[in-house]
Amino acid sequence: MSPTGDLVSNLTNELYRFSLEDVYGNISELLLAGVDTTSNTMLWALYLLSRDPEAQEALYQDVTRVLKGDGIPTAQEVNSMPYLKAVIKETLRMYPVVPMNSRLIAENDVVIGGHFFPKKTTFTLCHYAISHDKKVFPEPQKFKPDRWLRDGRTRPNPFGSIPFGYGVRGCVGRRIAELEMHLALARLIKLFEIRPDPTVGEVRSLTRAVLVPDRQVNLHFVERQKTSSEQ
Ligand code: HEM
Repeated sequence: MSPTGDLVSNLTNELYRFSLEDVYGNISELLLAGVDTTSNTMLWALYLLSRDPEAQEALYQDVTRVLKGDGIPTAQEVNSMPYLKAVIKETLRMYPVVPMNSRLIAENDVVIGGHFFPKKTTFTLCHYAISHDKKVFPEPQKFKPDRWLRDGRTRPNPFGSIPFGYGVRGCVGRRIAELEMHLALARLIKLFEIRPDPTVGEVRSLTRAVLVPDRQVNLHFVERQKTSSEQ
């Protein structure tokens, strides 16, 4: 049974006696935190790649260099695909699917950067604005996965983009989310070339709890020809 199926059957299992409120809370949490986040990020990644054939080719080369045949990449193989990881990082920089985050400083008054904040101040972090700061990310509106590669270039400040939050309340699903997206993107790019629908135009983002496109994106998945070594 799938992990989702397991969870649902445990939640409704007489043995555990969860209240209906707990069942509703857990299911909506699972769908919002665990599904809408990764599915919308995948959509943004595919949209960005569809508009950038060079980046798409670089990703295809990165994946096919490591992954032969139809297999699912192992964790070690994914680690040998730096461009694949960079595409997801850059997608989350441009479209941080959880666009805001907040923290309540409950314990003490604090001074940050010369500014005084009394205790119980709520700080709201706008990931979208932070990760579009041109002092940290030159040409912030441009999709440039290369900026994340460890190839001797100066990499951006790691706090310039923290789409999974940070610290003890950071995203608990981060590793699962990254693994899912890396595996799905590696598979998709191996099988298909992704093309935009020219009638759709520039897609904008809207905040609907998570960052979603303002229209249907209608990508075209064009099947790739198998090379002779893969027949
Ligand atoms: C692209 C994928 C995802 C992104 C960008 C993302 C982002 C975030 C962010 C920003 C937070 C708040 C962190 C903070 O306050 O510092 C969070 C919390 C959380 N995420 Fe994710 N998330 C993703 C996928 C997932 C998945 C797949 C799951 C579950 C399998 C998940 C489960 C959770 C849970 C349970 C919390 C609450 C943690 C807590 O309050 O202690 N997330 N996520």
